Amino acid sequence: MIIDVPELSLVALVGISGSGKSTFARTHWKPTQVLSSDFFRGLVADDENDQSASSDAFEVLHYVAGKRLAAGRLTVVDATNLQSHARAGLVKVAREHDVLPVAIVLDVPEALAWERTQAREDRTFGRQVLTRMHRDLRRSLNQLAKEGFRKIHVLRGTEQIEAAEIRYEKLF
Ligand code: GTP
Ligand code: MG
Repeated sequence: MIIDVPELSLVALVGISGSGKSTFARTHWKPTQVLSSDFFRGLVADDENDQSASSDAFEVLHYVAGKRLAAGRLTVVDATNLQSHARAGLVKVAREHDVLPVAIVLDVPEALAWERTQAREDRTFGRQVLTRMHRDLRRSLNQLAKEGFRKIHVLRGTEQIEAAEIRYEKLF
């Protein structure tokens, strides 16, 4: 499955915890092209899981994204991006720099994500948290286009996710 992405874009990964966003990001981009919410929470609060640090973390993440886009560098945001207001921040940064916001949705069954989550040491939340995320994801699928995402790619299931290939479109 080919995923067309403009050469200069702000790519928002969208998916519940355990859907494979960080794995996908590692597969397709250089570490420096990927801004992850975990990393920025760690940076501002010494703890990648400290949800109370999210607001500060995203403020810094948006700032860095802006600097990268101003310099013409493709930027990928590795966060769940399941809330409309979280995505609005990304669309805003993209627009401020005349860059297209692109969404790549990783849509895996909740049961698979839960299985993976239970096997991880760095995730301790309960099943109901994942269920809420999954509900938010379903809602998100209807909202992305009207929020301003110019390209929306939805990868359904591990097969499509693992087979995905990114192709860069030249901008004229
Ligand atoms: P959060 O950071 O919690 O939001 O999760 P995430 O979406 O970044 O998921 P992550 O990439 O960390 O993947 C979670 C677990 O699933 C890891 O242990 C991965 O090894 C496994 N995993 C992720 N993607 C794939 C995949 O495409 N195939 C297989 N077999 N395993 C995967
Ligand atoms: Mg991750």
